Amino acid sequence: MWYRRLCRTPGSPGHVVGRIETPGIPRLDRKSVKTIGKVANLEKRTAEQVGLELKNGLGIAHTRWATHGFPSEENAHPHLDSSGRFAVVHNGIIENYQVLKKHLQDQGVKFASETDSEVLSHLIAQCYNGDLFDAVAGALKKVTGTYAIAVISSEHPGVMVVARCGSPLLVGVGSGEMFIASDAAAIAGFTRQVIYLNDHDIALVTSAEADIRSLDNVAVNRNVSCIDWEPEAAEKSGFDHFMLKEICEQPEALANTIRGRLDTRAANARLNGLNLSPYELARIHRIVIAACGTSMHAGMVGRYYFEDLAAIPVDVEQAAEFRYRNPIIQPDTLVIPVSQSGETADTLAAVREAANKGAIVAAVCNVVGSTIARESGRCIYLHAGPEIGVASTKAFTCQVSVLLMMAMLLGRNRRMSYQAALELIAEIENIPQLVREVLETRSHIETVARKYAKADNFFYIGRGYLYPVALEGALKLKEISYIHAEGYHAAELKHGPIALLEDKVPVLALANDLPGKDKMIGNIQECRARCSPVIATATTGDLEVEDMVDDVIRIPRCSQYVAPIVTAVALQLFAYYIARERGCEIDQPRNLAKSVTVE
Ligand code: G6P
Repeated sequence: MWYRRLCRTPGSPGHVVGRIETPGIPRLDRKSVKTIGKVANLEKRTAEQVGLELKNGLGIAHTRWATHGFPSEENAHPHLDSSGRFAVVHNGIIENYQVLKKHLQDQGVKFASETDSEVLSHLIAQCYNGDLFDAVAGALKKVTGTYAIAVISSEHPGVMVVARCGSPLLVGVGSGEMFIASDAAAIAGFTRQVIYLNDHDIALVTSAEADIRSLDNVAVNRNVSCIDWEPEAAEKSGFDHFMLKEICEQPEALANTIRGRLDTRAANARLNGLNLSPYELARIHRIVIAACGTSMHAGMVGRYYFEDLAAIPVDVEQAAEFRYRNPIIQPDTLVIPVSQSGETADTLAAVREAANKGAIVAAVCNVVGSTIARESGRCIYLHAGPEIGVASTKAFTCQVSVLLMMAMLLGRNRRMSYQAALELIAEIENIPQLVREVLETRSHIETVARKYAKADNFFYIGRGYLYPVALEGALKLKEISYIHAEGYHAAELKHGPIALLEDKVPVLALANDLPGKDKMIGNIQECRARCSPVIATATTGDLEVEDMVDDVIRIPRCSQYVAPIVTAVALQLFAYYIARERGCEIDQPRNLAKSVTVE
């Protein structure tokens, strides 16, 4: 059924979808069905109450990521006005909803939910004067906050009004039918033609066209883009989970990220999306990387690259904090937002703040045409293909690869020699093969993971280039297995967390044969002295660590530049197999969303 296909993309809670077929829907066919839990529950209930297919009409649906009010049927979308004539689905947060709600209640309006979103349906009803577009525009002028909304009304069969401000929304152009969705992955199976709406766009959509305007009713032109990946890329293709599929397709994803970007003749990287001349590159004296979650960990690896290879000072900022901290940005600062989805609200806010302060902004994104990619002006795309599993895997390794190539470009623009760059190019070209070698050890990693699947607490420790990888490994584990896992710098452990070590708290130590390994060996001994079981990553052929730990995960020999990528893959598998052993919902972990479009 259409909404199941549209909503099924795991990790899309909070997103809105809709579909319009031929105009006209008999009044009696209007139905609103809500459930809590999985889309499959909704499918079942809809089959019981309505029948399985949307026939000759239009529909809207929403998978809610709770912001205001518990996950319950009352709080599920769509929200209707008191007369039941206007139905709204909303992604985002209406920040002034309390004032609006109070005002509406004072006028006798009864609310059926605890959500902020419900004010929209009542406001639309209040603003309605025979024209749905005007009513929605009128209501939106009263709200502050973020939204992607879709509105339908029994008064206007065959018409949907949609609008966005701060939350992603696109229109899919079909043949004799139109779609709207928060994410292209939801509609790729129906059409490849999409129109990305900008903030403050509002559109009247019928089965034949989308009339896009500003809130003040001035027509605006938006281009039709083509989704640049095959719909099959968003299928599981025989894997049990999207996450495992995405871990395993990293050799290809990384090859796609790297392809065409390494120039052995010039011993340099070629990053067209950056679009900066050597003169402009030379003027960059500081880099700020702003990102959230896994993308921030990629940014932390990037810091080592830029400082080591290009000698440029780097700050890695939690995007959520960046805007509110009044950051110091100068004209020679390059701000790099890193985001898989290109829609993360906090990262987007950082982009806007940086652009306002006059920084050069160059994004690293996966989703082509995403808001961050467009608003940054410059974007280096990952070309990793759609990432569906909530826990980011292939995007991380591809982001790190892009940052490495960016650092090489800036390094060559400064002090990096031709020979050093050639050696680095050879290493980067070998990344897909090294990742393949890690994937070949899957069954061993699974065996080790199963042994520790009952742990309640975990520590991950790393140093140097592998410090951010320890943070990322711990994040992967807690996201999908719900084990409390902490990532720490190995040296920091003794400043507090070591108090928690005991025989039931395993430590995963990143002890690859890289600079800092001798210190890591000392840290491993400290953990063992507190009776913690230790699992170590160690370089293939390096037997030194083996004797002092309980289990070893082998990582092929490689330099510190590519080790973060290769090691991260092993930790992704480790987290995956633990979560599987514990019977967790791996692709859709509780409480998480794939792209977080609220601040
Ligand atoms: C969410 C996802 C994380 C992701 C983070 C940043 O929290 O669950 O996996 O790392 O957002 O997302 P982005 O799309 O900006 O990389």
